[in-house]
Amino acid sequence: METININLPQNGYNVFVGNGIFNQLIKMVKSHGLNKNLFFVIDKNVHSLYSTQIDLIFSNYKGKVNLIKIEASEKLKSFKTMEKIYANLLENDYSRDTLLIAIGGGIVGDICGFVAATFSRGIQSVQIPTTLLSAVDSSVGGKTGVNFGNTKNIIGAFNQPNFVLIDVNFLKSLNREELLSGLGEVIKYAYLTNIEFHNYIKNNFGKVFNKNPKILLKIINETVRFKGDVVISDEKETGNRKMLNLGHTFAHAFEVESKFKLKHGQAVIIGIASAIFLSFKIGLITKSKMDELLELIYLFKDEINVGKINYDNAISIMQRDKKNKDGKIKFVLLKDVGSILLDVEANRDDIVYALENGIGVFK
Ligand code: GLY
Repeated sequence: METININLPQNGYNVFVGNGIFNQLIKMVKSHGLNKNLFFVIDKNVHSLYSTQIDLIFSNYKGKVNLIKIEASEKLKSFKTMEKIYANLLENDYSRDTLLIAIGGGIVGDICGFVAATFSRGIQSVQIPTTLLSAVDSSVGGKTGVNFGNTKNIIGAFNQPNFVLIDVNFLKSLNREELLSGLGEVIKYAYLTNIEFHNYIKNNFGKVFNKNPKILLKIINETVRFKGDVVISDEKETGNRKMLNLGHTFAHAFEVESKFKLKHGQAVIIGIASAIFLSFKIGLITKSKMDELLELIYLFKDEINVGKINYDNAISIMQRDKKNKDGKIKFVLLKDVGSILLDVEANRDDIVYALENGIGVFK
């Protein structure tokens, strides 16, 4: 098992990464001296797949413990689901001395993190990601929240967990679509980190579909370490952390415009393609650099079905993105692998060019 410390000054925590480590959960809760009143929020599907392991923890636990199963979808990443969790906590007499344990993908983790930030003015929490996407990205860093209206993650809080337990054993049950969605965030790190990791992903991403635990562990360790350093340098996203939004301004618009038929990670891959085309269009990179950067993206061109995206709608959605100021859309763009530009503005024609060409890769 690897332990990665997210060494924040006020609220640092450990991320444990391993294969078959879920059964160490209670030991970890105890060794961290966390609250003994446990409340689990578990993705309904994950519970049905892993009920034996989860029930074992329940039946052996000596203190107070309750569980709620929730359905995870972008449409249910909402106040309605939060209300259900708050109501259940209150019905079962939980108060501030609660440890909320989220088991599921990014949607469950984000909702639970926000419940933990707000219930009783803040309770302890543990994140147990069960998808590749949440393991490599959303379970670490403390971004929590829900969707509202047509805007993704617009209501939320920064709230770091008390620890994160990543067990690649959970990833065994993921289907190709879910693995591809996780790969979207992995690809993002392939552009943010360095050429060695970029080439590693180029050469090994196929083994992710085979759920090779060694490859999964290597990818998760690399991405979490990198993300941890970024979060330590800029927890509240006033600067450096914005790089983690590479492809995301486009991606959120694609997700909303596709009525969430496109999964987050798939949308991120198309979003990164669009960001590369935009980097070229506004003169940040040459045509040959663009072609070189697009090589990794083209490996996924037959994996994603974009459907119909209306460019005007996509641009209006991008204008509502919470990362913007004064209605101006700000992009994270690339000069090269590991060379990132933040807060780049672009005119409408350039954005339409990026949308047309980014989406065009997958047609
Ligand atoms: N998922 C991007 C971030 O945590 O900042």
